[in-house]
Amino acid sequence: MAVRRPLIAGNWKMYCTRPAAEQLLTALKVQISGLTDREVVVAPPFTALETAARVLAGSSIRLAAQNLHWEPQGAFTGEVSGPMLKELGCSYVIIGHSERRQYCAEIDEQVARKVKAAQRDGLVPILCVGETLEERERGDMLTVIRRQTQGGLQGQEKAAIAALVIAYEPVWAIGTGRTATPDQAQEVHAAIRATLAAITDQDTADAVRILYGGSVKADNVDGLMAQADIDGALVGGASLQVESFARIVQFR
Ligand code: 13P
Repeated sequence: MAVRRPLIAGNWKMYCTRPAAEQLLTALKVQISGLTDREVVVAPPFTALETAARVLAGSSIRLAAQNLHWEPQGAFTGEVSGPMLKELGCSYVIIGHSERRQYCAEIDEQVARKVKAAQRDGLVPILCVGETLEERERGDMLTVIRRQTQGGLQGQEKAAIAALVIAYEPVWAIGTGRTATPDQAQEVHAAIRATLAAITDQDTADAVRILYGGSVKADNVDGLMAQADIDGALVGGASLQVESFARIVQFR
């Protein structure tokens, strides 16, 4: 059985100018220094990535971008490519976040192209999946989760799947203060792992880290992290405050 190193990632979304990013990361570095049994990642907006890379130089905190285009370069106004992110010092990239699916009409086919591009360009994808409240109440939760997981991984080799990260973020729990209970999250994480096993094999599925996201806070992280298939957290709002993010990173 694979040992999955816990991963706590902070998705800053469209928050933080460069001075704010510098302040937050300078404090964070001090608060969480010396933790070696877990991985910590922050995903500032594109405009703060260079500042973040400078502040984090020499620290173990890794950088993620929040999106990328699948082409390495080209006439795609407003887009940013994998090689550009890599050059800025990014190790990870969030792909298919529900806010992009919802507000930018991103579909599974685009998500799959982005996942492949990220890996081609040397970035670890954090592929996001999650159902809306309506889908959950209709009883379609697992169908949606399987469709997004399979859709986002379309055409991927086993080895590529083993190396990526999946984030389960129920849309109804994002920014609402309404977290999935540890049991609710575990049920979906287990279903995601079973889906991965079905499209690859059990060893590959066991290697994939599956993060939970959606109103993760200092006071609920421990219960979530105690679940067998929850390997980390993708934190929105609470990652913008040093104290709360540092406590989440130091989950017990
Ligand atoms: P919140 O933690 O603010 O609910 O956001 C979760 C999220 O969308 C992380 O990607």
